[in-house]
Amino acid sequence: KSRVFSGIQPSGVITLGNYLGALNQFVALQDSHESFYCVVNLHALTLPQNQDPAMLRARTLDLAALYLACGLDPKRATLFIQGDVPAHAELGWIMQCVVHMGELSRMTQYKEKSDGKDAVLAGLFTYPALMAADILLYDTALVPVGDDQKQHIELTRDLALRFNNRFGDTFVVPDILLMKEGARIMSLDDPTKKMSKSNPVPGSRIEMLDPPDEIRKKISRAVTDSGREIRYDPSEKAAVSNLLAIFSLITNTPIAQLVDQYEGQGYGPFKKDLAEAIVEHLEPIQERFSHIRSSDEITEILTEGAARADAVATKTLARVKATLGLSHR
Ligand code: TYM
Repeated sequence: KSRVFSGIQPSGVITLGNYLGALNQFVALQDSHESFYCVVNLHALTLPQNQDPAMLRARTLDLAALYLACGLDPKRATLFIQGDVPAHAELGWIMQCVVHMGELSRMTQYKEKSDGKDAVLAGLFTYPALMAADILLYDTALVPVGDDQKQHIELTRDLALRFNNRFGDTFVVPDILLMKEGARIMSLDDPTKKMSKSNPVPGSRIEMLDPPDEIRKKISRAVTDSGREIRYDPSEKAAVSNLLAIFSLITNTPIAQLVDQYEGQGYGPFKKDLAEAIVEHLEPIQERFSHIRSSDEITEILTEGAARADAVATKTLARVKATLGLSHR
């Protein structure tokens, strides 16, 4: 079986965007691939607002419990916390000595997150080197992510190829796996921006742990386009197309069928049904979440996951260090 690796930052309750673009794919891949899924808490440190120890720890466990609540099975996939496996930080340093400043400064995520800030942490800039290390440590063949991570995966590929060319075949060059419609779920208040955990406007996103009434309120307030027609056209009708994509993914119904179903009905009934579909989909996940989060089982799963990940990562790191002449042997 080929390997899959992906990660999510514990920087807030994950959104329907994270779920439809990434997490949902993770669950689908766990049978066909040997998969490693990570709560990337070292990445979360790159923003000062995540450097609140009690909050970071709680969010880390919340995210781990959500992975499980969404259907990740610790028997079939390895779930672990990045900070529990030291090889990530160590290979992260090595990748910082492979990547160029110019490449890092072209990353749009860095540009967006540093824009207008006067104290930007160096880790925010070197972040893609750590992300490359995450992926390369597991000889990963496939990385399921949303569209916003595409640039980072392309950089990872470039770094792996550069390293292999200079020092001989060491890394597997990973491929990206994007969902078709779910790769970029947009904000509910502005369909030109992606839905994000860190948007200061709570109404811009559905969080996985939002109570049913909150979900109904957010969907009923979601912006729509001019006209009353429900049609899939991301350039002319960006807001409605985004809602259609969400509806389609969450109910597993083709977009064309939804368009037929709501023809001539206007936005009201469409939004009402969409809200109910989301509520219905998230309710069992939320129930499982509260059960898992309050059990001891999660500590065991994460300890076991870290041990399994560590065994693979330590081997790769030893290979890389030997290649670079970093080992006395
Ligand atoms: P993060 O935590 O921002 O997001 C986690 C995953 O969710 C996807 N995503 C979306 N997909 C569709 N629509 C959206 N609106 C949306 N918002 C987010 C992201 O693309 C991502 O797949 N740097 C990464 C974490 C990371 C990682 C890795 C990922 C660290 N190391 C190694 C893969 C492999 C990040 O910040 O994701």
